Amino acid sequence: MKILHFSDIHLTTPGHTIQGRDPNASFERALGHALADHGDAELLVITGDLSDWGDRADYERLRDRLANLPLPIALCIGNHDDRPTFLDIFPELADPNGFVQSVRDVSAGRCLMLDTWEPQTHSGHYCEARLAWLEARLREHDGPFFLFMHHNPFPTHLAPLDRIGLADGRAFRDAVARHRDRIRHIFFGHCHLPLAGSTAGVPTTSLRGTNHAGIALFRERELLSSSDLPASYGVAFIAADHVCVHMVEFGYDGPVRTEGNPDYAAWNRETMVR
Ligand SMILES: [Fe+2]
Ligand SMILES: [Fe+2]
Repeated sequence: MKILHFSDIHLTTPGHTIQGRDPNASFERALGHALADHGDAELLVITGDLSDWGDRADYERLRDRLANLPLPIALCIGNHDDRPTFLDIFPELADPNGFVQSVRDVSAGRCLMLDTWEPQTHSGHYCEARLAWLEARLREHDGPFFLFMHHNPFPTHLAPLDRIGLADGRAFRDAVARHRDRIRHIFFGHCHLPLAGSTAGVPTTSLRGTNHAGIALFRERELLSSSDLPASYGVAFIAADHVCVHMVEFGYDGPVRTEGNPDYAAWNRETMVR
């Protein structure tokens, strides 16, 4: 089965651009690309930064657009969002404590959408109340589980990004560690970068968002960096004995060479024929 992973769609006032790209148009292009190739996905999860400024109109447009999609949707919020405004438009996604946390079952297991938003900061937080919700969800079901969240659950070792990472990451990783045998994968966003690793032993991946792209610039210690690298969405193929996660660079507009192309044939002779 498949799960689609979108992140950092950063919807904003129609016609406005971010880093030279129109987030509304980018989101639409990503949806078209993903539905054409993976219309059989069981779920689409968008892991936050749904709106660039947390504007009500962005959430209203998102709600209308998602209502017309032919597959179930799950949402997380990110630092660019505004929880009270979001919950005005999506009240059904609040957990009993008022956080944007939800549960969605797919044939491969149970997906938990986590809320790492905190007011007045770009950093992520996962407080005692949210940890208690996660712990209860992990205890009440056999799993396996798939976790979705906005902020990176481990440090990236890129200094500007780590200043706005998950502030209490150790407590979160301890919670994951207690249940690691039943958590198959963690998906996150926020960094606008393709990242792969593990969180307390659980495989963990991220990707570029559907609009503006980051770049791993380790020499820059102060300022966040962006680039013109292609926008992307993710697709996770999940089977009993493997999970394969692609970052699909739908925003790439350059040539695509397939087998039989003259350049490819030359490469094949030089490297493959013994
Ligand atoms: Fe973002
Ligand atoms: Fe973010």
